[in-house]
Amino acid sequence: MAQRRIPSRIFLVGPMGAGKTTIGRELASRLGFRFVDSDSEIERKTGVSIPWIFDIEGEQGFRQREAAVIDQLTQQEHLVLATGGGAVTTPSNRDALSARGIVIYLFTPVQVQLQRTRHDTNRPLLQSSNPRQRLEELMQQRDPLYRQIADLVIESSSGRARGVAKRIEATL
Ligand code: S3P
Repeated sequence: MAQRRIPSRIFLVGPMGAGKTTIGRELASRLGFRFVDSDSEIERKTGVSIPWIFDIEGEQGFRQREAAVIDQLTQQEHLVLATGGGAVTTPSNRDALSARGIVIYLFTPVQVQLQRTRHDTNRPLLQSSNPRQRLEELMQQRDPLYRQIADLVIESSSGRARGVAKRIEATL
């Protein structure tokens, strides 16, 4: 039987609360790849938190930092990269992600996103009086963008991260 060749760069996209970080970490450990989360990488490089960057530089400043980090990380090998939920709104990110590796869209309904993010204070876009409406609006804008660049769409709302990672591994 021909040996399966696992792609050397795997990029996870999807909304806040999709489980990109937990699933990505699990998948990377199964494949023996390095795992990086673009938000953590921005925080590591700047030495400040994401909410802090939004406060001082606005969303636009954050998007510039995010694009620089994604451009760098998408060139590395043997990597699982979890991207921030809004990364796909920047055209250069969409280009880099789709050209340089396999893109997996972790689809999660808004109801589940809401449950998973409800006690969160680290996501500036959710500090709204109506987070459900916010998540719905974001989903409406972004779902077509996630699908546009996805090689694979995986439903990530049910089951543990381990199970989802196994499902992804089986389809690679
Ligand atoms: C954002 C999602 C966050 C983070 C930032 C903006 C978004 O990442 O990048 O708060 O625009 O949806 P997660 O999807 O990892 O929560």
